[in-house]
Amino acid sequence: MCGIVGYIGDKQAFPILIKGLKRLEYRGYDSAGIAIIGEETNTFKIKGKVSDLENFVVNEDTSGNIGMGHTRWATHGEPNNDNAHPHTSTHGKFIVIHNGIIENYSTLKESLLEKGYSFKSETDTEVLANLIEYFYLKGGVTAEEAVRFALQKVSGAYALVVLSHDEDDKLIAARKGSPLVIGIGDHEYYVASDATPIVEHTKSVIYLNDFDIAILKKNELSLKTIKNIKITPKIQKIDLEISSIEKGGFDHFMLKEIFEQPETVLNTIRGRVSAETKTIQHGGILSVLPQIVNAKRLIIIACGTSWHAGLVGEYLFEEFARVPVEVEYASEFRYRNPVLYKDDVVIAISQSGETADTLAGIRLAQDAGALVIGICNVVGSSIARETTAGIYTYAGPEIGVASTKAFTSQVTALTSLSLMIAKEKNTIEQSLYENLISELVEIPSKIELILQQNEKFRAIAAMYKDAENFLYLGRGFFFPVALEGALKLKEISYIHAEGYPAAEMKHGPIALIDKKMPVVVIAAKDKSYDKIVSNIQEVKARKGIVIAVVTQGDTVIRKMADHVLEIPKSHEALAAILAVIPLQLLSYHIAVMRDCNIDQPRNLAKSVTVE
Ligand code: M6R
Repeated sequence: MCGIVGYIGDKQAFPILIKGLKRLEYRGYDSAGIAIIGEETNTFKIKGKVSDLENFVVNEDTSGNIGMGHTRWATHGEPNNDNAHPHTSTHGKFIVIHNGIIENYSTLKESLLEKGYSFKSETDTEVLANLIEYFYLKGGVTAEEAVRFALQKVSGAYALVVLSHDEDDKLIAARKGSPLVIGIGDHEYYVASDATPIVEHTKSVIYLNDFDIAILKKNELSLKTIKNIKITPKIQKIDLEISSIEKGGFDHFMLKEIFEQPETVLNTIRGRVSAETKTIQHGGILSVLPQIVNAKRLIIIACGTSWHAGLVGEYLFEEFARVPVEVEYASEFRYRNPVLYKDDVVIAISQSGETADTLAGIRLAQDAGALVIGICNVVGSSIARETTAGIYTYAGPEIGVASTKAFTSQVTALTSLSLMIAKEKNTIEQSLYENLISELVEIPSKIELILQQNEKFRAIAAMYKDAENFLYLGRGFFFPVALEGALKLKEISYIHAEGYPAAEMKHGPIALIDKKMPVVVIAAKDKSYDKIVSNIQEVKARKGIVIAVVTQGDTVIRKMADHVLEIPKSHEALAAILAVIPLQLLSYHIAVMRDCNIDQPRNLAKSVTVE
């Protein structure tokens, strides 16, 4: 939530900042702004997208070699010009951009008002700017010290960049709870919420840790804690190609990411799952394997789509590794005082690795003595760094706000992990284990076959683009797929959609069914196939419209359903990965036909770094 970018060096800052903001726009896109130090310091900000900002400054002086930019996802105060970042302190000494939430901002604001500070916005960030200025003007401190003193007074989360009017040869960056990466160029530095604005300039980066402060000058970087303890920077190389963060000829990132899934699922299993030797090895968890194998219980924590992947994980681990599993919304888990034992293993799932509630859940579990492992996509993210061990999904950057390839890679990782644990525990028959390995390596080519039917999915989308409600039903492994299908539709097309376990339909949702209501039933062949066939009959008996996801060659449901979306035959435990793909494409096409903003749906942001 909110994207931050900064530059200091010999180049013109403006083009770097604008391009960087465009790359970060998936993090928030309700307003944008920049501050640049040139002959004088100029600040421009406006409600709207980065392109609106670009148009807004077209006749302005944006020259200068030091600057910072922000793209906002509103928390405190509606999206408008005043609430847009950067925020300047009352006496003009500091300019601040911020991602996160200052939780004690109202107390701080009251005290600053009493001291004569004034506020132009409703944001918590302006409080921070004024607080820094307050410490600075008290006298005898540098800009850096003023920032450190102010940060010691705030609670909440922040990634921020500060420009000082009096010390205009530096950028001061700090983090607690929200991500920040420093890029090291040749006599220049970059700072950003993630590596995407940096990667085309340098591959050398430093990930800031909580309570770190970086002072960036053209030829000098110094890293400290907010308690002024010097830190030796740990420079890492990022492995990110520019092509992976561009649309590559697709109309939208979401479509590109859907079509990348044969490759991304392959990346998740590459070097880990071998059809030749019939083995699975996740190197990232080997150090804690005995603890996982001996766990009395697994607790999966996640949010949104990652939580849906976790639900598939529950079915997988219980089925194969015979271990009880609880799947928790991280936001509920963290506030509920959950009962945790030392022999519990917690699995945190997150695409971004920055979701605030999931991070807080991890910390809570670790404090209780539980082992926490991560399943993360973004390499070097906070969750990847804070968990004891883990599995990277290697799906590559996911830019579209609606998660697609992250889900299939998460489920793939959970599938292979559950099989690896089952094998260690001897809870799976060798023949089934080998069969599932063979099937898992075939999943990418089966996804290709589904993608080839895209035109057919588009045609069905055209028929139902004006529906007001959708119901999604599934059983077993397909219940989480129903939830995920419904989430995809509502978040990008703004059509109300609900996912339900198919058997629960008759306990309430059946009352909604009429001849206008499309019901998407995930009905691929599995052990409850006959039961789902009955559910379809129940919908048809009430004149509902049935769009069924079926196994290729199914003739029974074809006769009953209004439309069938076919997926190749596979073991039911793996079919969740396949069944979600027609649903992703259905949602995508409906949203395109409704003229929705596919990659930047209203009110959403990719990475939810606020609680
Ligand atoms: O980065 P994470 O996987 O932790 O994100 C969790 C959710 O915010 C995310 O899945 C969200 O629900 C997506 N918009 C779903 O498409």
